[in-house]
Amino acid sequence: MPKITYAGQTYECRGDESVLECLERQGVELPSSCRTGVCQTCMMKATSGTLPAAAQQGLKPRLVEQGYFLACICRPAQDLSVTEADESALPKVAATITEKTPINETIIRLRLKPESTFDYRPGQFLNLHRDNGLTRSYSIASLPTEDYVELQVEYIPGGRMSGWLVQEAKVGETVQIDGPHGDCYYSDSDPEQNLLLIGTGTGLAPL
Ligand SMILES: Cc1cc2nc3c(=O)[nH]c(=O)nc-3n(C[C@H](O)[C@H](O)[C@H](O)COP(=O)(O)OP(=O)(O)OC[C@H]3O[C@@H](n4cnc5c(N)ncnc54)[C@H](O)[C@@H]3O)c2cc1C
Ligand code: FES
Repeated sequence: MPKITYAGQTYECRGDESVLECLERQGVELPSSCRTGVCQTCMMKATSGTLPAAAQQGLKPRLVEQGYFLACICRPAQDLSVTEADESALPKVAATITEKTPINETIIRLRLKPESTFDYRPGQFLNLHRDNGLTRSYSIASLPTEDYVELQVEYIPGGRMSGWLVQEAKVGETVQIDGPHGDCYYSDSDPEQNLLLIGTGTGLAPL
């Protein structure tokens, strides 16, 4: 069984366990959200050992070179030493909530004004961080030409982030965002390409 060394402790990975599952089983608290290798919230850095290639899917080449990987999909074949990701790996931008409007009974429109440049393409998503460290991904529902970043957030009963955003967060409050993330966007270099758009979740934002 491969062993994971983290913060001076060494743990044995069971069966098909990911690095995230192995460390959580030992009581280590780590950030995570999608747990399927999409949002990059669980990113960690390997300081020794060989990473499975799949554990670095979707990461920028500079992060791959520096040994960053996604703990939720990293099922190591060999021993690894790992640390938390540096803040610089996924730089955050402060953003002010400038509008919060219900769209229907369960979904709100949230408009954010980033305090510095936040370039993105329609189809991408961002990670939103609460000041308690909780992080969740949201599709960007605005256009890059607009002077705000719009999210459409569905209220999930008991949801730690959606509950806070829908019920507590106020216009004027500041959150942190990182991104944009995601490769699922239209390329205008090939205007004849076919598009398959699937509206899941709130339905419209990612389309
Ligand atoms: C790439 C990406 C894009 C996303 N875009 C959007 C978006 O545009 N708008 C949006 O509202 N959400 C979006 N999500 C989902 C979002 O990131 C959160 O998962 C969601 O807001 C719930 O988080 P929470 O902290 O409120 O719930 P948690 O505290 O994490 O969960 C509370 C409970 O609700 C359950 N739960 C979590 N999510 C759902 C769900 N969707 N339906 C039913 N039960 C659920 C959990 O299993 C748990 O039991 C996206 C996720 C990803 C990965
Ligand atoms: S928790 Fe989303 S990539 Fe690992």
